[in-house]
Amino acid sequence: MRAAGSGGHRPGGAAALAAAGIVALLCVAGGARGQEVQAENVTVVEGGQAEINCRLHQYDGSIVVIQNPSRQTLFFNGTRALKDERFQLVEFTQKQVRIVLSNARLEDEGGYFCQLYTDDTHHQIAILTVLVPPENPLVEVKEQAVEGGEIELTCIVPRSRPAAKLRWLRDRKVLTGISSKQENGKVFSITDVLRFQVDRKDHGSIVTCEATHPALRGQQKQTQYVLDVQFSPTARIRPPQGVMREGDTLLLTCAVNGNPPPTKITWSRANDSLPERALIEGDTLTIPSLSMLDNGTYSCHVANKHGRSSDQYVLVVYDPGAIVEAQTSVPYAIVGGILALLVFLVICVLIVMVWCSIRQKGSYLTHEASGLDEHGEAREAFLNGGDGHKRKEEFFI
Ligand SMILES: *[C@@H]1O[C@H](CO)[C@@H](O)[C@H](O)[C@H]1NC(C)=O
Ligand SMILES: *[C@@H]1O[C@H](CO)[C@@H](O)[C@H](O)[C@H]1NC(C)=O
Ligand SMILES: *[C@@H]1O[C@H](CO)[C@@H](O)[C@H](O)[C@H]1NC(C)=O
Ligand SMILES: *[C@@H]1O[C@H](CO)[C@@H](O)[C@H](O)[C@H]1NC(C)=O
Repeated sequence: MRAAGSGGHRPGGAAALAAAGIVALLCVAGGARGQEVQAENVTVVEGGQAEINCRLHQYDGSIVVIQNPSRQTLFFNGTRALKDERFQLVEFTQKQVRIVLSNARLEDEGGYFCQLYTDDTHHQIAILTVLVPPENPLVEVKEQAVEGGEIELTCIVPRSRPAAKLRWLRDRKVLTGISSKQENGKVFSITDVLRFQVDRKDHGSIVTCEATHPALRGQQKQTQYVLDVQFSPTARIRPPQGVMREGDTLLLTCAVNGNPPPTKITWSRANDSLPERALIEGDTLTIPSLSMLDNGTYSCHVANKHGRSSDQYVLVVYDPGAIVEAQTSVPYAIVGGILALLVFLVICVLIVMVWCSIRQKGSYLTHEASGLDEHGEAREAFLNGGDGHKRKEEFFI
């Protein structure tokens, strides 16, 4: 209040009044009585640039001293005192002293003194806060996950200040882990451990660890982790289409999965050796110019450290001229369906025909009956026509 009142004495008009008003507001906010120097708190991100402002009020040419948190003098009335080039005096006027600190470090944190040597010494402290935003979190897995077991993922943000908040996401759902915080001097190390059961279908799915922090201004730092789940292999033979005849080439493919992927696919023939013409290349077995002697049960086998699997195919080689029944049941189903439809249609046509013939007979007879009063029964039938065709049927047929 005093600041606003005394501001009026000073020459300079509206601008001075407005400036005095701001100082007055700040003084009220600070809860202090009228002061001749006013400092504002500053927040800076580590490595960034901080501006420390000391506002002067009713400055009369006294000495202004700015000190760092260790109370070393940085500037003595505008002249550098401490040899730290990161601090630069950028403004010294009647209204304010402004210094800029570049490449702010955690050690720079604390109260900066703006001191005015007058009859009675005024000082104000600007609190500098240095924030350490998190880097992208690190995600680590403790042990190789195997299907049916558990996976343990650890998300780590080794440095942040204040402590970053971590959470896990999977398919846009939040998963809860166990969070812990460690203080290392001025920074925090945050870890969050997530455990869950895994299945083979989890292999390759993505889990994200997300860090939020005030210095990130609503943005997040995310790290995605692709789950690596080991599982026993499966082998499936893709059989050829149709029947095999003499002279054809047989091509069998063994579709394999498993993690780690089986390194080798072996082919065998039950109770017999593979034909000498057989060619094994990658996941396929090729037997050119088939003969009936190649009949047999062929298998492919795969294994990894979690198990083994095999599949088999029964090869029957037919004479080139042989008529072989279709192997699939699909044509039967279609033929059956068409037949059923035909039978249904025939029945419908029959019903319609019978119904029409009855109606024709009925109307003819009733017409005849209308002229013959003695045939009361016939008339009655006509009048009661609504009773249904069944009755007419009984009556006239
Ligand atoms: C600056 O921060 C300190 C400590 O957090 C607080 O007591 C003081 O009121 C703040 N000053 C201003 C002007 O916000
Ligand atoms: C301090 O610096 C200000 C601004 O440069 C100057 O006006 C004032 O005279 C100086 N005071 C002393 C005591 O040197
Ligand atoms: C042929 O294999 C079947 C089972 O695959 C077995 O039961 C049979 O004893 C074998 N025959 C010979 C002669 O090895
Ligand atoms: C192979 O199978 C076909 C069809 O069953 C049969 O006609 C033929 O005799 C078989 N050949 C041998 C060598 O077993």
